[in-house]
Amino acid sequence: TRHLLGIKHLQTSDIQLILETAKEFKEVINRPIKKVPSLRDITIANVFFENSTRTRLSFELAEKRLSADVINFSSASSSVKKGETLLDTVNNILSMKVDMVVMRHSSPGAPVFLSNKIKANIVNAGDGTHEHPTQALLDAYSMQEKVGDLTGKKVAIIGDILHSRVALSNIYCLQKLGAEVMVCGPSTLIPKHLPKLGVKVGHNVKEALAWCDIANVLRIQLERQQIKYFPSLREYSLYFGINKAMLDELDKDIVLMHPGPINRGVELSSDAADSDQSIILNQVENGVAVRMAVLYLLAQKN
Ligand code: CP
Repeated sequence: TRHLLGIKHLQTSDIQLILETAKEFKEVINRPIKKVPSLRDITIANVFFENSTRTRLSFELAEKRLSADVINFSSASSSVKKGETLLDTVNNILSMKVDMVVMRHSSPGAPVFLSNKIKANIVNAGDGTHEHPTQALLDAYSMQEKVGDLTGKKVAIIGDILHSRVALSNIYCLQKLGAEVMVCGPSTLIPKHLPKLGVKVGHNVKEALAWCDIANVLRIQLERQQIKYFPSLREYSLYFGINKAMLDELDKDIVLMHPGPINRGVELSSDAADSDQSIILNQVENGVAVRMAVLYLLAQKN
């Protein structure tokens, strides 16, 4: 049984195959009839132990466009609240003859744990601070769509790197596709091991913007911060917030990205988030085609 647990162990050719397949699905879902029969008779459970807007809706739409049968589980309204374990919950869902599980969980490694215990295909839709592989794939797709081949392109990932699964999956994905990566943020929010992964580390947002072709801006994840980190949101926005005037000062048009949800006025001002340089809603649009590609390819390899 095949899974998508993270980007770290994918081959570059796997990533390229997913991105090429996504391109074909993007053409399909822009036709008047958006639905294809590729996953007819496949049942997929979207099992979310953590909140989500984009990822959950995007997976559900991708599954429906592929004609899969879909069930949705949200821990907040489930018997998890009565003490049922992750494994019992998923085994109960699987006994209803489910073929694939798309799972979001707050614990890093939860999808790997499940993949060792059950027979369904597992897709990681975000596991704590670890990986968010489909986000990295849709980010790479959106970057390629905007600037072409990523070989030699410079991507700055700016914000709360320490708590971000999007940052780690992006780093792995971008490096495999030949891009140069810089992370930029306050030193309290950048993990110490990152230089070992071959990424540049910066603490000055204006320098990062001047260096890059693409800025992928991340949210401060207050919900994951166990202790009170410096800086406060006010200080963060003062020293690391990006606004349109900062983009206009540059001698080039960089591409601005954000995985969402945005803390408007903290990491991005509205005039930057909604500017012509922003491809934030294109990222969301491309997420459906990329997730169709992932589900379709996993189903082929059963
Ligand atoms: N980008 C992202 O994962 O958003 P959600 O948390 O809303 O799914």
